[in-house]
Amino acid sequence: MKPILVTGGAGFIGSNFVRHWLNMEPSPVVNLDKLTYAGNLASLSSIAQDSRHSFVRGDICDERLVGELLHAHRPWAIIHFAAESHVDRSIHNGQDFIRTNVEGTFCLLQAAREYLNHLSSEERSAFRFVHISTDEVYGSLRPDAPAFTESTPYAPNSPYSASKAAADHLVRAFHHTYVLPTITTNCSNNYGPCQFPEKLIPLMIHNALNGKSLPVYGDGSNVRDWLYVLDHCEAIRQVVHKGALGETYNIGGQCEKNNLEVVKEVCAILSELRPGPNYASLIRFVEDRPGHDLRYAVDISKVRREIGWTPKESFSSGLRKTICWFLENSSWVESVTSGSYREWIDIHYEAGRQRIGQ
Ligand code: NAD
Ligand code: TYD
Repeated sequence: MKPILVTGGAGFIGSNFVRHWLNMEPSPVVNLDKLTYAGNLASLSSIAQDSRHSFVRGDICDERLVGELLHAHRPWAIIHFAAESHVDRSIHNGQDFIRTNVEGTFCLLQAAREYLNHLSSEERSAFRFVHISTDEVYGSLRPDAPAFTESTPYAPNSPYSASKAAADHLVRAFHHTYVLPTITTNCSNNYGPCQFPEKLIPLMIHNALNGKSLPVYGDGSNVRDWLYVLDHCEAIRQVVHKGALGETYNIGGQCEKNNLEVVKEVCAILSELRPGPNYASLIRFVEDRPGHDLRYAVDISKVRREIGWTPKESFSSGLRKTICWFLENSSWVESVTSGSYREWIDIHYEAGRQRIGQ
């Protein structure tokens, strides 16, 4: 049976997607990942013996490698997750974001286009290039503004979101110009198992368990629309089968929370599952992120109507599952919080971020 090619399948969402796909679908997975600081084979350990999963360490910017993989494995779909994904890192240095997110996506599109020329018309019509993007391309919402729809104009505000917006435009252009069978999804903030502890929720869990401060940027009033990662993976799986070519689909958790509410809920669940310390007393308000987007919220009417998907988890149920996973998988956390992780925490929080109140 023909496989799918997944890029970035050792990262947070990609590894959850690969496991979910192999649970639900017959087709094998070829997983191409460079294993940057954010990619971890430990996230794939449960499928290490599964013969339907082949891992290839490599760079999506390596057009020759991508071409060879396509011709050798003849996938019927590419699901493109690989990216530099952390806004704060893009503010420190955006170079890798332009390389992987923009040039890497361009390279994959080129390779896919060339590969399609070698397929039969039946194979060509079954082929899908699914590009995973973010709601951050739409910019920031005022508190009372309606949620982002697929026709909200792009207005990215960080080097990360600008690089994803550029990638989305390339995907659109390859569909329009070369009729490449593409679909783009723009999702909200994910959380769940295997998320690298540089992002808000896993950082708070990790710091709280280690008695470290819980750094909340600004006054904690910025709002995100939280999506449990397995709900997201199921949405993508359904989009692969039912999505219309050239279309984009917004995917969100229907769960807006401000950051302070999120951190307090992490503390409350931890107090129940690991009683003892007063976790909330570790909350510290620190210097804000430059250009910090105030609010993201995603209108999921289109994916609900056309694909038939809605999220299953509430924030409380998803967060509880996430915290249980982190408590039961301390060896995963230890394996990813290596030297380079500690270096990032030192640069970003210790030297650069002054505490501004309590
Ligand atoms: P992640 O940072 O956890 O993982 C990214 C993966 O890509 C890593 O395994 C890394 O090794 C790999 N990678 C990076 N550069 C590569 C390259 N040049 N070649 C091959 N592999 C490379 O990211 P994530 O959170 O899993 O996000 C996956 C996708 O979803 C990204 O495209 C991101 O923009 C998008 N997204 C994420 C979120 C979120 O909340 N995490 C929200 C919206 C959209
Ligand atoms: P993050 O997980 O980095 O995702 P994104 O920037 O893509 O939304 O951050 C989520 C929110 O949490 C965002 O408003 C920034 C805030 N935040 C903090 O307050 N403290 C932190 O230490 C981090 C990493 C994020």
